[in-house]
Amino acid sequence: MRIIRDPGRLNRLLKGVSRSGKSIGFVPTLGALHPGHLSLIKQAGQDNDLVVVSIFVNPAQFGPQEDLNKYPRPLKNDLALCRKHKVDLVFLPDQKIMYPEGFSTLVNVEGLSRLLCGVSRPGHFRGVTTVVAKLLNIVSPDVLYLGQKDAQQAIIIARMIKDLNFPVKVKVMPTVREKDGLAISSRNEYLGGQEKKDALVLSRALNLAKVLIKEGVKDTVRIISRLKQLINKNKNVKIDYIAIVDSTNLKPLKRVGGNCLVALSVYIGKTRLIDNVIVK
Ligand code: PAJ
Repeated sequence: MRIIRDPGRLNRLLKGVSRSGKSIGFVPTLGALHPGHLSLIKQAGQDNDLVVVSIFVNPAQFGPQEDLNKYPRPLKNDLALCRKHKVDLVFLPDQKIMYPEGFSTLVNVEGLSRLLCGVSRPGHFRGVTTVVAKLLNIVSPDVLYLGQKDAQQAIIIARMIKDLNFPVKVKVMPTVREKDGLAISSRNEYLGGQEKKDALVLSRALNLAKVLIKEGVKDTVRIISRLKQLINKNKNVKIDYIAIVDSTNLKPLKRVGGNCLVALSVYIGKTRLIDNVIVK
């Protein structure tokens, strides 16, 4: 496994790989790798000749009040996991090389970036799309692997790829969960013992939504109100949003139908967690 810090070097190397007819699968991450990331890496390995993982805590997607400095950076462990999962190349740039002095180009997907998580995290998705655009130009992968866990992020990146004609396919992999249902996230590390139990409310609420929809409830206002009731029983949990939207364009749905995305975000103490489910 090679670790490369310089974008130009990586780009030259990977251009050679593509020219030789080999396919490249790419998994961008913030590091602190967990089974969610590993499922993307495994799939990339199954589908492609070469797997590239980037580890970069991207300052552009963290708000001023957010956890940029606190974000976990267990680099040794991450590299060991990459080695174990047969990653070929790890791209490990630093902030200066990604955002040198004078950097002034931002990529923003209008509209979609302001909805759902965009309300409480203004500028977040612009930071994501800017760095992913850069990474796609550096790596030139055949397939980009993203997680359903961050459904809105995947939808926004897919939009950007279409709008800006990036020649890459997107594969969105299912959310990996703990046995108890909690969606795995690096931010779960911030939760204390009781908070980890409180956090189960996310998957429970999504299961309730699935049950209601299966029972034939179509009115989204009614479903959302039942979810609110369930979540508000726990005084340690504060709802950020609950949304039932079209899973392709995030437009709010009055009635369940087609491919709909039930997405929610809650605060457990100071930690904001998200989860979602697609109901067909
Ligand atoms: P990060 O949070 O490290 O996630 C990297 C990828 O792993 C994302 O595509 C995310 O959706 C996926 N992922 C995270 N938890 C998952 C889980 N439990 N199951 C399945 N997939 C999961 O998302 C980012 O980094 C950044 O915004 C990034 C795209 C790298 C841009 O900086």
